[in-house]
Amino acid sequence: VPAAGSGDRLGPGDPKALRPLGGRSLLFHAVARLRAAQSVGPIVVAVPAGSQDRVAAELAGLAVTAVAGGATRQESVLAALRALPSEVDVVLVHDAARPLAPVSLINAITAAVLAGAPAVVPGLPVHDTVKRVGPTGLVLETPPRETLRAIQTPQGFQRSVLERAHVLAGQPGGAGVTDDAGLVELLGEPVLVIPGAVNAFKITRPEDLAGESSVSAEPAV
Ligand code: CTP
Ligand code: MG
Repeated sequence: VPAAGSGDRLGPGDPKALRPLGGRSLLFHAVARLRAAQSVGPIVVAVPAGSQDRVAAELAGLAVTAVAGGATRQESVLAALRALPSEVDVVLVHDAARPLAPVSLINAITAAVLAGAPAVVPGLPVHDTVKRVGPTGLVLETPPRETLRAIQTPQGFQRSVLERAHVLAGQPGGAGVTDDAGLVELLGEPVLVIPGAVNAFKITRPEDLAGESSVSAEPAV
C-alpha cells in the first residue's frame, strides 16, 4: 500500500493518507478493506518519513507492517515490495488514496491473477472524449472512446513479474510511468483489464472529500 505521498493537490495539511474520512484516516479505510478481503494475507504499508508511530497507532489490530516510503510512488512501492515475506507470490498494489475500493474488487483482482494473468488492473469506461495533445496545444490524436479505460487500484501481479517491472522504474522511460501496470507494459508482459468500481476512485483534490464526514468507519463489502 503506497501511502507516503504528501497530498500537495489536496492543499496544506497532514500527508494525504492520514487525512480524515468519516472519523478515520484514508489509510485506515483502505487497509481495513484489504484486511476484510479473504484473498489478502500480509499487508505492507509504505508511510511518510516520520509518520511510522502515528500509522502504527492508526492501524493497530489490522496486522500491518509499516516501512518508510520514498520520494516517488515507484520508490514507495519498491520499499514495500522488499518487505513482503518471501513466500508471497501474488501481490496487490493499492493506493491509500483510494479508501473506498470495495472488498469485492480486491477479491476479483486477486482471483484473476490466481487464474493465470501476470498482471490485472481495474478499469472503468471514460465518459469524456480523450485527446492526445502536443506541447503547442494542438491535438495529435483522438483515440476511439470505447477503447479507453480509466485505470484504478488495486492492481494485481505475479510477484516475479512486478519485481522485474520495478527494475525498469530506474531506467530511461521508466521514471514517468504512473502506475505499476505501466512498468509491466514496458516489460512486454500482458496486462489484463477487468471491470473497476466507481467507489475505487482516488482522492486527489479537496472536492473529492466533500461530504467525507458522512462516510462510515465500517468497511463496506
Ligand atoms: N505515494 C507514495 N509515495 C510517494 C508518492 C505517492 O506512497 N512518494 C502514494 C500516495 O500516498 C497515494 C498513491 O501513491 O496513496 C497515489 O499518489 P497520489 O494520489 O499522487 O498521492 P500524493 O502524491 O500524496 O498526492 P499529490 O500528488 O497531490 O501530492
Ligand atoms: Mg502524487
